Amino acid sequence: MTENSSDDDGDDGGDGGGWEGAYASTDAVGWDTGDPQPAVKDLVDAGAFTDPVLDVGCGLGTESCYLANAGYDVLGVDVAPTAIERARETAADRDLDVRFEAGDAFALGTPAGVVDADWAGSVLDVGVFHAIEPARRSAYADALARVLEPGGRAFVLSFAPGAPEDWPPNLISRDDVRDAFDVGDSDRGDSDGEDSDHGDSDGDWRVVDLRDETYVSRGGEVPALLAILEWSTED
Ligand SMILES: C[S@@+](CC[C@H](N)C(=O)[O-])C[C@H]1O[C@@H](n2cnc3c(N)ncnc32)[C@H](O)[C@@H]1O
Repeated sequence: MTENSSDDDGDDGGDGGGWEGAYASTDAVGWDTGDPQPAVKDLVDAGAFTDPVLDVGCGLGTESCYLANAGYDVLGVDVAPTAIERARETAADRDLDVRFEAGDAFALGTPAGVVDADWAGSVLDVGVFHAIEPARRSAYADALARVLEPGGRAFVLSFAPGAPEDWPPNLISRDDVRDAFDVGDSDRGDSDGEDSDHGDSDGDWRVVDLRDETYVSRGGEVPALLAILEWSTED
């Protein structure tokens, strides 16, 4: 599977589906050049992450290893067991102290998940949100809310309008992020109004930043959106 596969919709029932097949069938998946995304490097340079960092949908562990090498306490989680196996090998080859576990993002912070609720200081998502079926985006945001400690931040890098239409199934706009994370009106950055609760979670997401970035894949550089969202449980 390449980043532009029409099967690449994340709607695999949580068992890895096409993702596992993609990792098992090639050493060079289209979405991973082997180098961390420039946007992630900039975030590290800016000291944006708080430990422990959860790299959700970590794939081959490229970002996880970069963060670990920078001194962060990192857990990479991916639904594809072959990706996790290869990420562990990479970390071992580089003598990096980073943990990788196979697991479903939608189960994060539940008894069935690989990490407990309120576990993460930060969550990094490179290329997962944009691959999730739109109807499941809110459930995904709920999962990130469960696993983040209060005040923790999610960093979500997605393809944006301007990327080739036939690459991922979804190009992510600012409003797609605001809607999925049910950002209260006063926190959307574009209007005044009341906050809204997110699903059944006891808290709110606040947009810290929504900025244009570039996503580097094997197919080239494409426009991307970096969403930085903070999870707050305060009134
Ligand atoms: C486009 S790839 C990005 C991988 C990695 N973050 C990178 O930048 O190379 C999306 C990743 O999300 C993973 N993924 C998709 N759905 C998932 C889920 N429900 N739980 C955990 N991982 C998932 C896939 O297995 C795949 O590795």
